Amino acid sequence: MAEELLRREAADTVEDILRTGFDEHRAYVNPIVSQRAGLAGEPVKLVGTNAGALVDRQGGEIEDFHGTQAFGHRHPAIAAAVRAFLESDAPSWFPTRVNPFAGRLGRRLFERTGYDNTYLACTGSGAVEAALKLSRALTRRPRLVGLSGAYHGCTFGSVSLMGEGFLREPFGPHLPGAETIPFGDVDALARALAPGDVAAVVVEPIQGEGGVRALPEPFIEALCELTERHGTLLVADEVQTGMGRTGRGILATHDWPRRPDAVIMAKHLGGGLVPVSVMLTSRELFMKAYGSSIAAGEAHNETMGMNGVGCVAALAALELLTDETIERIATTGAWLRGEFAGALEGLSLFREIRGAGFLLGIALTESDHPWLTFEHFELPGLEGKAAIASLLAHRLYRRGFFCYPCGHDWSVMRLQPRYDIPEERLAELVRAIHEELEKLCRIA
Ligand SMILES: Cc1ncc(COP(=O)(O)O)c(C=O)c1O
Repeated sequence: MAEELLRREAADTVEDILRTGFDEHRAYVNPIVSQRAGLAGEPVKLVGTNAGALVDRQGGEIEDFHGTQAFGHRHPAIAAAVRAFLESDAPSWFPTRVNPFAGRLGRRLFERTGYDNTYLACTGSGAVEAALKLSRALTRRPRLVGLSGAYHGCTFGSVSLMGEGFLREPFGPHLPGAETIPFGDVDALARALAPGDVAAVVVEPIQGEGGVRALPEPFIEALCELTERHGTLLVADEVQTGMGRTGRGILATHDWPRRPDAVIMAKHLGGGLVPVSVMLTSRELFMKAYGSSIAAGEAHNETMGMNGVGCVAALAALELLTDETIERIATTGAWLRGEFAGALEGLSLFREIRGAGFLLGIALTESDHPWLTFEHFELPGLEGKAAIASLLAHRLYRRGFFCYPCGHDWSVMRLQPRYDIPEERLAELVRAIHEELEKLCRIA
């Protein structure tokens, strides 16, 4: 038996997995995703990393603009922190659930954000769920309000606040009490909150999947004022905007007129290497919701939410996120935005550039030329979906840049560079997008 196990271990080496695992993914995991990867530009096969970028089988470098790897793939400091933890003999998981690594992460998050209560989970959706439940437990109110075009993840709670479309519709009926109001509509917000029965309003400071749409200032002001007035929790989903991404601070909401009652971070909190997410709130709110008895303290919990590996990765990521890094994101992001605006202006398929810091979106115009549609590529079920950003992404992947359209609004190409990307690489991206979009314009 032991011999058999050893043999199996020997077969599952990283090298072997990278050789055949892509086909095994198609066979045993999700064939549709493999098909979609073809649309993005596969058969490029990514098998390595180098100085934050990805490397394909032929040794070509691919720069990843998806955003989950904000510190670059396998940042050496984050990898070293995880390695050091694994080389120690410290437990990662504590049966009492008093996890010292979670304690230290909670302390550092408090020092950096001012929120003095930390709830840890493994995914963005898990942390959103924690915020939704916190708001219900606190207020005992039935309603939960989100904005059209939102993306908060794929649990039932999150999907109930999801923007319309294929990510939401198949899963009804949705959570009772959950509803969506039009993006940025102050009057709709005022009407929704007026009865005083809304537990929480959940927003993204800049909607990522909804098309890199920043909440308008007047809406933010009304949101802060109205949630305060009606005793409704203000929940900021900063899964995309948090950890410095917008260049405005660790949290994009840090200078809002009212500090959100709960904030969520995930994805790059663990350096993109280890799954870890957080819902930050105040001790006061947490105790009001869960402090009634010893039994209630963990009424909402997630078994692997607190684990040492995730916490040490997050501690290392926070250490990398210095004021200088955030400043660079702000200034380089502003420069990049200007470069795109200058280079793409006048191209018939270019609409506008959106976003802040290293969370940018290039909004494109659709063409009705038959070659520039999904029907032309015989991809059923995508009728009416914007195709230009996907076609552009395909071309860019071949040139060493992984970019992808937003999950809801396929007419917008979302660009989230890693924080330490050299400026020359960004300049190359601007050139590549200009050249490839120009070619598409000639067809259109
Ligand atoms: C704004 C936002 N919230 C929540 C989530 C869900 O995170 P996860 O996929 O880790 O559950 C995402 C994921 O992309 C997101 O972009």
